[in-house]
Amino acid sequence: MVRAHFKSVVFVAILIGATFLLRPLGAASDDDAAIATSLADMLRAARQVISNNQVRINDPNLGDKGLTGRVVLEQALVIYKKNTGTDPASIDPASRHGRLLRAQMDAIVEATDANQATINAKGVGFKGFIPAVFARLVNEAFENRAKNEAQVKVTAPEQLVRNRKARPDAWETDVIRTKLVQPDWARGEAYSAETQISGRQAFRMMMPEYYAASCLTCHGSPKGETDITGYPKEGGKEGDLGAVISVTLLK
Ligand code: HEC
Repeated sequence: MVRAHFKSVVFVAILIGATFLLRPLGAASDDDAAIATSLADMLRAARQVISNNQVRINDPNLGDKGLTGRVVLEQALVIYKKNTGTDPASIDPASRHGRLLRAQMDAIVEATDANQATINAKGVGFKGFIPAVFARLVNEAFENRAKNEAQVKVTAPEQLVRNRKARPDAWETDVIRTKLVQPDWARGEAYSAETQISGRQAFRMMMPEYYAASCLTCHGSPKGETDITGYPKEGGKEGDLGAVISVTLLK
């Protein structure tokens, strides 16, 4: 009898323990790491849309490409849903995740619509409208909307950075040097930490990306040779750490 009672107490204790353990999973959509990952996934999806349409964008014979902000966002949503299994529409707009993701979706529309003249220019082949430039414009528009709450930035190891706006700050530089480029760092694994930015508590997450063969027409060899965009090539190799999506969530 006493023994049976003891057993049921243990059983209840295990149940309570399991409930606590599982709770963070249930609440994951508002966790810092989940939000940061989601914002990176949406940026990647939008960047992929520009990449998928690059040949059309670069076609000098085509005028109107039909690539409005709405269209780019729609295509990005298809990719985001496929990659994450989540429909952003299902994320409560009143939650921090829902609010920030919607601000980012609005930023995607804004950055695309603001560049229609460039995208649709007839008689011009390469227009400089490439995924990296688009991602920067989206991130700038997002920062204006999410001011004082969140920032998404695409950076890279210092020696690879082209646009000075993309330079890693001291914390990012340290994470790249001491973690992401280390030979024992698990490939593709993100690094995150609670830290301070100008006196404010912040959650920061760094998500590494590696050069694919397609990147090397611009970032590859011979090092120093001018690429189609006018920048000197970095001499990068396939598989090198070439980019880091850095997300900051301010408290
Ligand atoms: C057509 C040439 C071209 C290709 C292909 C290309 N990039 Fe870039 N990349 C650029 C240019 C130009 C910039 C500067 C963008 C700007 O003005 O912000 C840039 C910027 C970046 C940045 C932001 C940091 C910085 O240097 O300013 C990263 C990270 C990056 N590229 C990584 C990649 C990766 C990874 C790939 C392949 C998936 C790739 N790039 C493909 C031309 C290219």
